[in-house]
Amino acid sequence: MGEAGKTKFQSDLRRYLRETDEDRDLTRLICEIADASKYIINSIRTGDLGVAGTSNLYGEEQLALDVLSDRILRKRLLHSGVVANIVSEECNEIITVSADCEGKYSVAYDPLDGSSLVDVNLAVGTIVGIYKGCDVLLPGRNLVAAMYILYGPRTTLVLSTGKGVHEFAMNSLMEYDLQRENIQLAPVGNIYAPGGQRNKYTPGVEAFVRYLEEKGAKLRYSGGFVPDINQVLLKGKGIFLYPHLQDAPNGKLRLLYELNPMAFLIEQAGGAASTGRGRILDLLPRGIDDRAPVFIGCKDDVAKAEEFIARMG
Ligand code: F6P
Ligand code: MN
Repeated sequence: MGEAGKTKFQSDLRRYLRETDEDRDLTRLICEIADASKYIINSIRTGDLGVAGTSNLYGEEQLALDVLSDRILRKRLLHSGVVANIVSEECNEIITVSADCEGKYSVAYDPLDGSSLVDVNLAVGTIVGIYKGCDVLLPGRNLVAAMYILYGPRTTLVLSTGKGVHEFAMNSLMEYDLQRENIQLAPVGNIYAPGGQRNKYTPGVEAFVRYLEEKGAKLRYSGGFVPDINQVLLKGKGIFLYPHLQDAPNGKLRLLYELNPMAFLIEQAGGAASTGRGRILDLLPRGIDDRAPVFIGCKDDVAKAEEFIARMG
């Protein structure tokens, strides 16, 4: 890792947001989410690994940890005093916290992405998108902030409020210190993280992946969206894909909770995020459970994927 993107200043998350003149209520909201993450880490480290006996809005079996993380985050948001609506990957409907939208924020989140990896002790994360006002069924380009928290060997928080992407690392007092400011992606990368079963790839996606392999890109895939995106972003080069599959034209990943926040962050770092046929952040959600294929990372790599898909599907 070169020096680019490293910060010279020592600042914690709250102070950083204050010093960069962020809106007071947005600062409060971001800090509430950061605080919630301390409790989520604790439940990951020591909590029950079993199932909850319920399913989420995608019909997937919920783990006790999914339900607990959702509850931790929701409680914080409910009591923050700055939230209008909440929508979570683990909940079947939009939760209205305040009918008065004036000056409030609405939040879409995945409380514990990759939760099925906890029992094998791999990295997982929380993903959050923040909108101004009440509406959460907006194209992602309307986000005012996006962040993720990565629970790996270290705990890091990556945030953008539309002024670049910054990484904060949790210290021994469980506070987030600024680690790297203005993280930037190179135009072309040399790592690839391919999600989905390869024998279900369409001809265009298969040809694109072969193209990456022939030019010597290294395979770096953990099966967790947050650590996989974090690797691309912090190494500054690479592409993650979870494409349309022959039996799943919309891929797997969820637009509101996963793709929009990550697309916002990657674009803020100078990268791109596409369905293979258009910009993720321009998609108008039809429902809270929309999914979309995704090619996300270095700009030229994403453009190359679009070329293959336009030609071969
Ligand atoms: O929630 C989505 C997720 O767990 C992501 O973290 C990951 O990228 C993807 O699903 C992996 O899905 P699968 O293993 O089912 O292909
Ligand atoms: Mn998820």
